[in-house]
Amino acid sequence: MRRCLAALLLLLAAAPGRAEERDLKRFFAARCAVCHGPDGTGRGAGGIRLGARGFGETRALGKVPDADLARAIREGAGAMPAFRTQLTEAEARRMVVEVIRPMILRKRR
Ligand code: HEC
Repeated sequence: MRRCLAALLLLLAAAPGRAEERDLKRFFAARCAVCHGPDGTGRGAGGIRLGARGFGETRALGKVPDADLARAIREGAGAMPAFRTQLTEAEARRMVVEVIRPMILRKRR
């Protein structure tokens, strides 16, 4: 029993921020919105400085495969830092499908 508890504690200690990482919308708001804006328009403070474009601004991004966008997130793209230590490959892929894609498809008014 004691051993079991110790193992459980170890497991909890070894997985900092797991819950936050799994909620990728929250992760986006916390780590990506500073540049891309909360809605992906590129109007975050950092985005304005770095000249980030809105995800929905060009048709080009809509044609980029999920895998390539996920790689850009993990490896970094231009002025964007790499997130490979914070997002697994699967999480980066989910980020594209669940969070980024809807922002790309959203029509500009
Ligand atoms: C320091 C500012 C910054 C942060 C933080 C940041 N990005 Fe970026 N991101 C950029 C810039 C600059 C570009 C390239 C210019 C552009 O097209 O907007 C870019 C490009 C992208 C692209 C398009 C890649 C391509 O092939 O054109 C995606 C997708 C993306 N970012 C997602 C994210 C996600 C998801 C996060 C959070 C995990 C994130 N970014 C955090 C600045 C940032």
